[in-house]
Amino acid sequence: MTAGPYRHLQRYLPKGLFGRALLILIVPVILIQITVALVFIERHLDGVTRQMSEAIARELRSFASVVEAQSDPADIERMVTELSSGIGYDIEFLPNDFIDPQERRPFYLIADRAIIETLQSETGYPISVNTRRGDKIVHATLQLSAGVLRVALPKNRLTTRNPHFLLVWMMAVSVFLIVVATLFLRNQVRPIRQLATAAEAFGKGQAAPVFKPSGAEEVRRAALAFTTMRARIERQIAQRTLMLSGVSHDLRTPLTRMRLSLAMMEDEEEGARLTRDVAEMERMVDGFLAFARGESGETPEPVDLHMVLETIVADERALGRAVTFASPEGDATLALRPDAVRRCLRNVVENAGKYGGGEIWVTLKAEARRVTVVVEDNGPGIAPEMREEVLRPFVRGDVARNQDKGGGSGLGLSIALDIARAHGGDLTLSRSEHRGLAVTVSFPR
Ligand SMILES: Nc1ncnc2c1ncn2[C@@H]1O[C@H](COP(=O)(O)OP(=O)(O)O)[C@@H](O)[C@H]1O
Ligand SMILES: [Mg+2]
Repeated sequence: MTAGPYRHLQRYLPKGLFGRALLILIVPVILIQITVALVFIERHLDGVTRQMSEAIARELRSFASVVEAQSDPADIERMVTELSSGIGYDIEFLPNDFIDPQERRPFYLIADRAIIETLQSETGYPISVNTRRGDKIVHATLQLSAGVLRVALPKNRLTTRNPHFLLVWMMAVSVFLIVVATLFLRNQVRPIRQLATAAEAFGKGQAAPVFKPSGAEEVRRAALAFTTMRARIERQIAQRTLMLSGVSHDLRTPLTRMRLSLAMMEDEEEGARLTRDVAEMERMVDGFLAFARGESGETPEPVDLHMVLETIVADERALGRAVTFASPEGDATLALRPDAVRRCLRNVVENAGKYGGGEIWVTLKAEARRVTVVVEDNGPGIAPEMREEVLRPFVRGDVARNQDKGGGSGLGLSIALDIARAHGGDLTLSRSEHRGLAVTVSFPR
């Protein structure tokens, strides 16, 4: 459907409205979180750390300059002990020592980098700073002229606590928001699902579930439009059925009168021919009446097509035809109008018996989305250009007329097609591998 680069993406995206709407909601929330976390929090942490480290660096600088002013190592020793007791962190002086040059690591945590950079630039003496992840103490070593000054700085005086608690809070709040949104969304999506289910059921000719239009205004409007449309179509179907049965019923009365007058007619030959015509018309009218009656009133119920076909096949075998019935594993039970479906399949199988070459193959295929019945024979088949034609009411082929295969009025296939379509299915004609006609009837699940 969608072209180009989105096609691949689409495979991984949720298919349903619910999933998509949720995605549309969640993605921005997550993006905002990441942005805030990276930009705002890290900047803030960086700034605070630099400020705090700067204060300590200044302290160290004045401290170092006082120490530098002493020349006697004993004085330095005394002074360091004195100062370290008041300053809040450990200081140690190692005379005649040298610091190792600071090694550079490729990665530092934001806070660590800020500490190291600030101490290096603000103390005014060569300094090596050792921060370790998770360590609460930062070890720094200053190079003075008489030796090195080692300090153990508590990390909480150089930087603030990593604000991950803020992230946890943000996370918790957005999870809460998403939960709330999910609940609301579900309520909005439910009426759309109901509408889809109702439309599907109606398309298959099943009793559509009654549902109250609810949800957003647009959805309610669509649901209302659907309900109105369904009512109108149902009314039309009912009216058409009523009219058809009325017309065919009314036709019977004049036909009966004609048959009676014919019986009293003088001309034997002429009378016989007319009687045959009248009889055929009566058959047509009866067929039509049965069709119009059968369509109305029946409600769909679970029908096992395997069982339906078994009885039809048994009847055909009783007439002396060789029927091969193939029904592989699979559930062939659908919600169908039982009498209508029986009539539909019977019409097709009987045709194969009447017009075929004596052998019939009936195949039932239970697929995931539909159940298909294929009826084949080894007769003359129907020429491709005639296939559409014979599906029309009252159309009979040459085979049927010439050989006077009794009982037909050219309605069988059109009734079968009508029934299949009324269930949302279809009926198609093609050439069979067994030379004859193949009729495929399918019903959606
Ligand atoms: N299996 C078949 N093989 C050949 N022709 C067929 C077959 N089934 C139906 N037909 C042709 O299609 C026509 C219409 O069939 P149908 O609607 O059942 O009417 P009817 O059986 O009353 O003639 C038949 O008259 C026949 O010519
Ligand atoms: Mg027929």
